[in-house]
Amino acid sequence: ESLLNEVSSLSAKNTDEVEQLRLKYLSKKGEINALMSDFRDIAAEQKKTIGVKINELKQTATEKINSLREQLTETESQSDDIDLTRTAYPIKLGTRHPLSIVKNEIIDIFQRMGFVLADGPEIDDDKHVFTMLNFAADHPARDMQDTFFIEQSDPNDVTKNILLRSHTSGDQSHFMEKHEPPFRILCPGRVYRNEAISARAHCFFHQVEGLYVDKNVNFTDLKQVLLTFAREMFGPDTKIRLRPSYFPFTEPSAEMDISCHICGGKGCGFCKHTGWVEILGCGMVDPNVLEACGIDSKVYSGYAFGMGVERITNLKYRVSDLRMFSENDTRFLKEFESAN
Ligand code: PHE
Repeated sequence: ESLLNEVSSLSAKNTDEVEQLRLKYLSKKGEINALMSDFRDIAAEQKKTIGVKINELKQTATEKINSLREQLTETESQSDDIDLTRTAYPIKLGTRHPLSIVKNEIIDIFQRMGFVLADGPEIDDDKHVFTMLNFAADHPARDMQDTFFIEQSDPNDVTKNILLRSHTSGDQSHFMEKHEPPFRILCPGRVYRNEAISARAHCFFHQVEGLYVDKNVNFTDLKQVLLTFAREMFGPDTKIRLRPSYFPFTEPSAEMDISCHICGGKGCGFCKHTGWVEILGCGMVDPNVLEACGIDSKVYSGYAFGMGVERITNLKYRVSDLRMFSENDTRFLKEFESAN
């Protein structure tokens, strides 16, 4: 009985002391085993009650010693590894990617002009990326963009080819086949082209597509929206210039330059001394495209534009090598900390 009291109130200062206690009570030559050997000599009628007592004693001692060991091991390992007086490590926050910063800025500007976000798939079919956009089946314009083809589902039908979209204009077909005008949409997204990777080209990049279809939409609407965008993005003194161009899905088509914001249009190395830098392609939606999407081109007209996010980012931040956008070098990314 007194031994039972003794073991229930055992204490130890460290794990070495716990081991001493284990040897004292629980080892082969310990006190409890000694009691067990005495057990043989006691009278038969006492064996039952004393047996129960000894078992209880052994169990209590085992539990007590194990729990002491557990507690002490924990505190000992903590005090070894942790210096509670040390100053904390600074928390490193990530930074937004420059392409996201610029993409969000573009979205912001067009949202203020009533555009709403829409998108389409990156893995798409020829039908939406080319055919519905007025690229004839054997039209050389199909080669205008080197496309990554994934699968040819039907050798006799090019429109069934599965591919990585080469421009976000495919989002136009996806949206228009499902919606009735009027609508004013903006589609940011990643596009892929089979190009050798260099400082000036990559096999994937990002575009933002804009599309407005309604009654009586005309070229002056397009021009004003693009001028407003250029001034919001590059400053109120920015001038724009539209040069005639060609895209199968717009007629007439144009490419837009902005006055070089580095030299203010006077001419510098950045704009190759022309005073102008190209930033996007645009035009009036070709009536064939509206019809292919089930929209009556006698009732509705529209404009579309598409711009490269990398290009705009380069103009704003003068990033000299396109590859830096996808290398995730934190020294590069950290430079955009304050632009967040
Ligand atoms: N899709 C064209 C490109 O990738 C850009 C564009 C979009 C042109 C919309 C006109 C209208 O170059």
